[in-house]
Formats: sequence, C-alpha cells, structure tokens
Amino acid sequence: MSKKQIRIGMIGYKFMGKAHSHAYRDVPFFFDCDGVPVMQAICGRDEEGVKAAAQKLGWASYETDWRKLIERDDIDLIDIGAPNNAHAEIAIAAAKAGKHILCEKPLAMSVEEAKEMLEAVNKAGVIHMICHNYRFVPAIQYAKKLIDEGKLGSIYHIRANYLQDWIIDPNFPLVWRLKKEVCGSGALGDLAAHSLDLARFLVGEFKEVNGMMETFIKERPIGEMSGGLSASVKGGELGKVDVDDASIFMARFENGAVGVFEATRFAGGNRNGNRFEINGTKGSIRWDMEQMNTLEYYSAEDEIGSQGFRSINCQEDIHPYAGAYWPPAHIIGYEHTFINLFAELMNGIASGTNPTPNFEDGHNNQMVLEAVEKSARTGRWVSISELRG
Ligand SMILES: NC(=O)c1ccc[n+]([C@@H]2O[C@H](COP(=O)([O-])OP(=O)(O)OC[C@H]3O[C@@H](n4cnc5c(N)ncnc54)[C@H](O)[C@@H]3O)[C@@H](O)[C@H]2O)c1
Repeated sequence: MSKKQIRIGMIGYKFMGKAHSHAYRDVPFFFDCDGVPVMQAICGRDEEGVKAAAQKLGWASYETDWRKLIERDDIDLIDIGAPNNAHAEIAIAAAKAGKHILCEKPLAMSVEEAKEMLEAVNKAGVIHMICHNYRFVPAIQYAKKLIDEGKLGSIYHIRANYLQDWIIDPNFPLVWRLKKEVCGSGALGDLAAHSLDLARFLVGEFKEVNGMMETFIKERPIGEMSGGLSASVKGGELGKVDVDDASIFMARFENGAVGVFEATRFAGGNRNGNRFEINGTKGSIRWDMEQMNTLEYYSAEDEIGSQGFRSINCQEDIHPYAGAYWPPAHIIGYEHTFINLFAELMNGIASGTNPTPNFEDGHNNQMVLEAVEKSARTGRWVSISELRG
C-alpha cells in the first residue's frame, strides 16, 4: 500500500514547537507508519522569529497568522502548540476547515470550551488527538498492560505527584503560565493535568474530588517565556499572579479506588518529578519520569521471602514502542514520548481511525480540572457529574 503524505501546519515554535518538530522528523526514521509527516508550514506572530524557527526546525514555509495557515489547502493537520487560551479558537476553526488536529494539553480553558472543541471535531469528522505524551513512555504502556492483564488485581490506591521547582525564585518573571487569562490555571492545568490523564489511563474514570489551591508568590516582575522553561524579565514593573502555585486534591474513582494528587512548581530540587504509585489487591507499581524507563513492580504472588519491588528496565523489544529504537537497554528519553505519540497520530490519520488520547479524553480531563477548582473555591467534594451539565 502506498503511504499517505500528511502535510502539517504547526502553530507555536518554542518549547513544544521544538519537541513536536523533532518528533515529526524522527517518526519515519524509527516507525514504518502508513502516514508520512511532511513539515509544510510553521506559524508564529513574529516574522523574524518564525522565519528563523522554520529554518532551524526544518519547516518548508511559514505564516504569521494562524488563520492563513488554516486557509491553506496544502495543509492536512493543524498542530496547536500555542498557549492554552488559543487552543479552542484555533481548533474549532481548523475543524470547520476539515483539518485533522493535534492539540497540546490542557485541551481548553474550561469544560464549556472543551465541549465545543469536541463537538466541532465530531461534526467535522476529522482525526483529533491531545498531546499527553507521558502515556507513550514504554514503562507506562507496560504498566497499562500489567493492569489490563489483572497483575495488580483490583486497584485500591493511586498517589501521584508532579513536582517541579522552576518558579521557586520570587523574581522569576510573570510569564503566560502564571496569568489566568492565558493559561486557565497554574500547576493544576500545567502538571496535574498529566497526572490525572495517567490516572484515567491506568486506574479509571474519576467520580469526585476534593481539592485546595495555593499561591505563594502573589506578585512578580513582568516577563516572557524564552524557550523550554526559561524566561526573561521585561522592564521592572510588577504584575499579579492569579493562578495556583500548588494544587493538591483527593479523589474517588468510579471503580472504588481512591487517589491523592499533588502538583507544584515550588518543590525545590525536583526538576520534572512526575511520579506515581498504584496499589492493588495482587500487586503494586511505581514510576518516576526522572527514571522514565524503569517500572517498579511488586507482586503479592511472588514467594514469601523474595517478595519486594523489582526494577524492570522497560527497554526490551517486548515493551511497547521500545523495539522501534535500539537494542535492549540502549535507552530512550523525553523526546521519544512525542515520537511514539506522533506515530499513532500518523497511523490514525492514514487509516481514518481516531487514536487516543483524543479530544474526548481532553474534555474528560478538563472536567476533573474544573471540579478541583470548584472544590477549592467552595471547600466541598465536587462530583464529576456536576460538571457534565
Ligand atoms: N505535553 C507536554 O508535556 C507539554 C509541555 C509543555 C507545554 N505544553 C503545552 O504546550 C502549549 C505551549 O507551551 P510551550 O511550553 O511550548 O510555550 P512557549 O511559551 O514555549 O511557546 C508558545 C509558542 O506559541 C506562540 N504563540 C502564542 N500565541 C500565539 C498565536 N496567537 N498565534 C501563533 N503563535 C502563538 C508563541 O510565540 C510561542 O512560539 C501549552 O498549551 C502548554 O500547556 C505541553
């Protein structure tokens, strides 16, 4: 069968723009997908910046207005790597124009927006995906396999934390990630969004949550992101931080499991500490992004005397995605999580079947995020069904 060329138009060219560009280049190198990414056009508002990015990241052309990008008839897939407040407008316009869509997380600023986005892609019949790349770590996929095979039995607990420290300095500038009108929420939408997506993937659907949110540093010098998680101050003026620096919540799941979640960008010494432990009737697993290829697994069915957590290096051919790369234990890293996700996206578009996680997951995740915010505001348990409307 001949391969389908999938012509991409990508919006945003800093942190995620770089990660996505790299992944499009590497997908055909490692995977034999039915769809082949063509890096057709990149979009940003600053002409000099976007032109330089097109050259460095390997895009054939550039646009300075995302509307023009969507109008182009030589684009099949719109990739949204702009800040959160831009996701809905771009995705809805892209769906109306019949483009497939990859959107960064969190999907939207609110459940209402997420619902409109989901309705738009369903109505248009386009392929859609949300970029929860941590699902595509081989160790996470292997954890899912163990759970699906019943190796953990019925699940009792998940305790997940996502700990970073890049804004712990009070002089770190007020960037878009700290402004509610641009990002919707702080550590919650930025970090807990990933943890709760993994919880939905591995444990099941949330039933209700009870949360608190805290802002430690209320004012910061105005500035902007400069790529990765670095930023620069612009002038000396102070602005108000109106999102959470830390969010903590308890959860009950539909299947009876319970969860404890913590997300913060104030946990000194933790650079990208995305971690969880899951305990079931027959066993437990633990994972830490900073050691992303290792899954710790405890089986209550092991012989007494040699029971305990074993460390599995999930880099054998048998581990999902790992076989596409190197010989066993010649390990992969952060960027490969995007390559794995994009391989699913390319195959999904070529075959006309929607991969997961998609906008439906984005919408379900958004309900959990909004339930945590509502709980923090009202001081009570909030059921996910309250958000369904
Ligand atoms: N999957 C992940 O692990 C992960 C990691 C980081 C960020 N993200 C998400 O990716 C998105 C982007 O984050 P980032 O870290 O790349 O931010 P960033 O600040 O590094 O880059 C944002 C880019 O969007 C551009 N942009 C902003 N508004 C635009 C507009 N109206 N039109 C065109 N371009 C516009 C900016 O110029 C910049 O190039 C956010 O939704 C964020 O939550 C996801």
